[in-house]
Amino acid sequence: MEQGNGYPQIVGSELFDWMRTIRHHLHQSPELSFQEFKTAAYICEKLSELGISPRPGVAGTGVLAEIGPAHSDWIVGLRADMDALPIGERTGLPFASTVSGSMHACGHDGHMAMLLGAAALLKKMDLPGRVRFIFQPAEESGNGAEKMVAEGAVNGLDAIFGGHIDTHYPTGSITVDEGIICAYADPFIVRLKGSSGHAARPHEARDSIVAAATLITALQSLVSREVDPNQAAVLTVGRVQAGDAHNVIAEEAILEGTIRSTHPEARSRLLAGMERMVMGISSLYAVAAHLEFPDFLPAVVNSASATEVARRAAAAVIPEDSILSQGPSSLGGEDFSFYLQKVNGCLVRFGANISAETGPAHSSTFDFDEAVLATGAAWYAQVALAFLQENVSP
Ligand code: NI
Repeated sequence: MEQGNGYPQIVGSELFDWMRTIRHHLHQSPELSFQEFKTAAYICEKLSELGISPRPGVAGTGVLAEIGPAHSDWIVGLRADMDALPIGERTGLPFASTVSGSMHACGHDGHMAMLLGAAALLKKMDLPGRVRFIFQPAEESGNGAEKMVAEGAVNGLDAIFGGHIDTHYPTGSITVDEGIICAYADPFIVRLKGSSGHAARPHEARDSIVAAATLITALQSLVSREVDPNQAAVLTVGRVQAGDAHNVIAEEAILEGTIRSTHPEARSRLLAGMERMVMGISSLYAVAAHLEFPDFLPAVVNSASATEVARRAAAAVIPEDSILSQGPSSLGGEDFSFYLQKVNGCLVRFGANISAETGPAHSSTFDFDEAVLATGAAWYAQVALAFLQENVSP
């Protein structure tokens, strides 16, 4: 890569090439949530190459590592996620996935490469405090961060920082925003149970499909009628499963979906409304109904103080006019929120726009501009350094 204007100079071409090789290796061997065994082993190998001893096996396939003076009580955490998605890759890249049906389609391969790059930079510095590298499994599915927290990954941390590659923004930019940046996510499963019978004799059965159809339509009014229009929210039914044959009334219908919201009061109105509608449909059609909300994801709320450090770190590695705002909160979820419930911190987005033909994140043609590896590594290293320099008394 040409280290052109606007790219962090702290990352030389040797380190950049090292990160790019890592990214290509990880991209070729994607592993799904909680299956990141080879990925973890590779990260451990690269950390060892840097003279950093890794601690694998955290929350299954997570890896922790720490550097800095042993006597310091100050520790700042930097996080990268490790998992791929169940998508068959169609990018045609020379380093495309070799695992059928799996793909790094969200940039987590880049996150791991840039955090290793930051480790390489920080290892050479005289640090005023400690830095903990947190490689986390299962961001896409399974709330790996929650399990990392349960296994002590943030114990003793004074702050935590993370970043996500985002092709909506130009390469070399970083978005930094205080407050909520990713929504509350409440995935739901509704089971409606009637009784089966002959398609021609509905009076002998209880049709779960008719009840499900009414429920799906009714749910569409929750966002429009229950939530303050100034508070962004969305409800999507993404999966419907019912029935076995055209001439049999379906005994059971299962709906799966997700509720996303950006304000606590909107969230509680939506959850209560959902429950009311499910119970209402149950009595309306005389079917049994069961509603559950598995795998709740809290909102990502960047603290004011950590956001300031994140902004100053960005200003140290990119031009001032490349520090952007994402605007209103995304309705996407991010399990980085579980760390922020324990320790103050900030999640940013690294711009990595590539070309119009490239698909969006979570698509089979997703790719990103690899120059982002330099921006990400430089920011990660700088934010850790800045936090420690500002907080650790000399
Ligand atoms: Ni992601």
